[in-house]
Amino acid sequence: MKKFTATRPCRWGIIGPGKIAQKFAAAIPLAGNAVLYAVASSDGGRARAFAEKYGAATYYDRYEALISDPEIDAVYIATPHAFHARHALLCLSQNKPVLCEKPMALNHAQVKQMVDVSRLHHTFLMEAMWTRFLPAIEKILEIVNAGSIGTVGHVRGDFGFYAPFDPDSRLFDLKLGGGSLLDIGVYPLWLCLAVLGKPDEITASGTLAPTGADESCLAVLHYKKGAIASAFSTLNVYTSLTAEVGGTTGTVVIPSPWYKSNTFSLRRPGEEEQRFTFEAVDNGFEYQIREVMRCLNLGLIESPLMSHAFSLSLSETMGLIRQQLGVSYPGADS
Ligand SMILES: NC(=O)c1ccc[n+]([C@@H]2O[C@H](COP(=O)([O-])OP(=O)(O)OC[C@H]3O[C@@H](n4cnc5c(N)ncnc54)[C@H](OP(=O)(O)O)[C@@H]3O)[C@@H](O)[C@H]2O)c1
Repeated sequence: MKKFTATRPCRWGIIGPGKIAQKFAAAIPLAGNAVLYAVASSDGGRARAFAEKYGAATYYDRYEALISDPEIDAVYIATPHAFHARHALLCLSQNKPVLCEKPMALNHAQVKQMVDVSRLHHTFLMEAMWTRFLPAIEKILEIVNAGSIGTVGHVRGDFGFYAPFDPDSRLFDLKLGGGSLLDIGVYPLWLCLAVLGKPDEITASGTLAPTGADESCLAVLHYKKGAIASAFSTLNVYTSLTAEVGGTTGTVVIPSPWYKSNTFSLRRPGEEEQRFTFEAVDNGFEYQIREVMRCLNLGLIESPLMSHAFSLSLSETMGLIRQQLGVSYPGADS
């Protein structure tokens, strides 16, 4: 079993040094007991420039070369959604622990395959739902689970911004897993499922871009116990980026931008509003990095806080929503 320390830090490798990989690389030193050891790109020049910028010891122009480097303790997959399954399976089948960018994959079948291989090879796999590990969000889950707002009957969250239509961008190209739901709707949907669990029924509607990817998606989740939740995502307009959880004795209100908030309010009728504030979230990825290392230190193959079962449930729910929107991905429409 590993035990990462300052003298024997967790050596991270990154696959796909694009936009989000930069944020991840900057977070590694913030996590403590971690270093960026290597980076791999299909373009050797890009890998080299990234390695130099973030101080990686080495770089590769093939993902397979990074994956088979015995010095690497964990791999962060930062390629577009359409490649997550392929790259994660490459890692897992060689017993390399994986932190995979959200969404875990294009559909439920791919996530199931990833989980199966993680279990078969007894190798760690986690979806990089970084919001889950922020101190304010952890506290909200603690408060809600403790019954401090009574029985939860409502969850709502939105995530939207304006992205000019570009058929070739990963936001709109179905071959790259385009669409608002998988890219940003996954955040409010995560919140709904984290609080209320898997829905019993779903009503979804949206608008599609000329490529067939969802520009906007409103998913309403119905629960037999009486609760209702909604997750809205869009690439058409800027939304308020707020979220709330309503219960029979109070409400939790998360201000903008809720998915990286360090603060929230607890409102209960007849009482003064209580404001909870935690350390400012600058990068924010360091919390999920720490969680991966905590799990590796314990010899776990999944995080109890962002489990395989949760990613399966999230991908299944997104599949049901996409069915109603009429969005399917080439070669991955189940
Ligand atoms: N957690 C967050 O806050 C957050 C924010 C943004 C994005 N993300 C997630 O991170 C992932 C990557 O997003 P990004 O915006 O960073 O992507 P990106 O910059 O467009 O691409 C990242 C890397 O993926 C590879 N790639 C890009 N387009 C490709 C194509 N058409 N064919 C094959 N490989 C391609 C390239 O790797 P090579 O250098 O090897 O060619 C590129 O460097 C997505 O799944 C997204 O959902 C997460």
